[in-house]
Amino acid sequence: MQKKLREIHNQASAEIAAAQTEEELKQVQIRFLGKKGEMTSLLRGMGQLPPDERPLVGGLANQLRDELTNLFAAREEELRSIARHRAAAEERVDVTLPGKPPLVGHLHPLTLIMEEIAEIFLGMGFTVKDGPEIESEYYNFEALNIPKEHPAREMQDSFYIRPDILLRTHTSPVQIRTMEELAPQVPVRIIAPGKVYRRDDDATHSPMFHQVEGLVIDRDISLSDLKGTLLLFARQMFGPNQQVRLRPSFFPFTEPSAEVDIACVICGGQGCRVCKESGWIEILGSGMVHPRVLELSGYDSEEYTAYAFGMGVERVAMLKYGIDDLRMFFSNDIRMLRQFG
Ligand code: DAH
Repeated sequence: MQKKLREIHNQASAEIAAAQTEEELKQVQIRFLGKKGEMTSLLRGMGQLPPDERPLVGGLANQLRDELTNLFAAREEELRSIARHRAAAEERVDVTLPGKPPLVGHLHPLTLIMEEIAEIFLGMGFTVKDGPEIESEYYNFEALNIPKEHPAREMQDSFYIRPDILLRTHTSPVQIRTMEELAPQVPVRIIAPGKVYRRDDDATHSPMFHQVEGLVIDRDISLSDLKGTLLLFARQMFGPNQQVRLRPSFFPFTEPSAEVDIACVICGGQGCRVCKESGWIEILGSGMVHPRVLELSGYDSEEYTAYAFGMGVERVAMLKYGIDDLRMFFSNDIRMLRQFG
């Protein structure tokens, strides 16, 4: 029996040393030391031994089992360590590989255009004013000489929050707020860029869009000041040979009123699909501020005159960049936006 014990011990030692994974080792352990293992079954037969041999065999058995237990533990630790090293080697980061460049964002093309517009007017001595996008019916319509039943309200159908509070349909209310703030000081020379809202939605109209308002008040301001200023603007924005023309129009808050066109930047004025063969493209509405509007907001219309304009930022951006669908600005397609970084 002692010989058999030693054989099992030798056999187990060899298999422990040969085990290549923790799983293999586990199997060896079960086979030799488990409840139904070889060592265990052998020791069950101890009862048949003569009583005087039992202590000797028992002692040897305990000794060999302890040895095997230690061998298992040692090999287990060894295999774990090998596995750890292998994993570390496989996961090692190659620091010499080129990195992924981080995505760098940039301003939206419309923001860039608004900044460019502002830059040009700042150069002519204008300052920039801000106004709320949630506006009162008074500032958006009433003070601009658009009374309640006036048909001009229909062209600017809005989103109402309450009957007297709405999302502003144009930047013109900033004219009123500026006059109330500064009256009766002159000169006033401001632009007001910002978002405006209307109940429109198609290829050339978005429910949210941008305008830049302009207002100049002083003694002896005339239509030629308006035209000269806008010509200078158009030339800085679109090139030194750019032309502008004023077409008679109507706005309740200006008299006379004009729509301002620039020579079509696509065909250079020859006539094409974009300008509908006219050679001209409208970029803004303007006029001499109506005396009633001046008076209502604190300026003496006998002493002062004023011009004002409201420019469509999307329109300017589309012409400048050659974009033919307004909705491209708002669909958030990174391939489109990325071109303006
Ligand atoms: N507010 C007008 C619009 O949105 C544009 C406009 C026309 C603004 C004439 C003005 C102006 O300041 O004088 O259609």
